[in-house]
Amino acid sequence: MSQPTDKYAWVYRVDDLDFDELSALYLSARLGEMPADALATVFENSMFMCLVYAGEVLVGAGRALADGLDCAYIADVAVHPDHQRRGLGQAIIRRLIELCAGHEKIILYANPGTEGFYSSLGFLRMNTAMGIWGDRERAIESGILSGQRGDDRPSARAR
Ligand SMILES: CC(C)(COP(=O)(O)OP(=O)(O)OC[C@H]1O[C@@H](n2cnc3c(N)ncnc32)[C@H](O)[C@@H]1OP(=O)(O)O)[C@@H](O)C(=O)NCCC(=O)NCCS
Repeated sequence: MSQPTDKYAWVYRVDDLDFDELSALYLSARLGEMPADALATVFENSMFMCLVYAGEVLVGAGRALADGLDCAYIADVAVHPDHQRRGLGQAIIRRLIELCAGHEKIILYANPGTEGFYSSLGFLRMNTAMGIWGDRERAIESGILSGQRGDDRPSARAR
């Protein structure tokens, strides 16, 4: 049976990617300013990627940084607002999960408000996930980091 995502063309290589167009996609999806040269670095260093085109136009993207065996990290998933809510975002994640097959764990962090989207794809919350961000204050403000130290939990303080 044909799927709503069948009319899109899928590309899994960085070779012909226009990084300015990718940067514009992330801006339109409100993922913020991501300069083309920075995107070139992170995509070229990622083992897997999905680039989705409607005709000649890039309308969806995502990548996975992976070590080939143990851990794969999915990042920078976005769909152009004109193409959202058609199943494309789910299809990109499913395709990245398939590409990461064989890895012991596949991890990601959700932008606040998108947790439900990832739950429906089989992701569970990680109880002990912790991170160091370059711009810690902004990450706390946006809700990605909690601002608590790992040992600040009430159970640790009570000891
Ligand atoms: C999140 C995103 C990738 C989803 O793409 P999409 O193509 O719209 O998603 P789909 O059409 O595959 O969504 C299928 C289901 O996921 C859920 N879903 C989609 N977007 C969601 C969101 N932002 N929050 C919670 N659930 C969401 C819905 O249940 C949706 O089903 P519905 O249409 O019946 O409501 C897209 O909204 C996007 O690019 N957002 C901006 C960038 C971003 O936040 N990226 C994630 C970084 S962590």
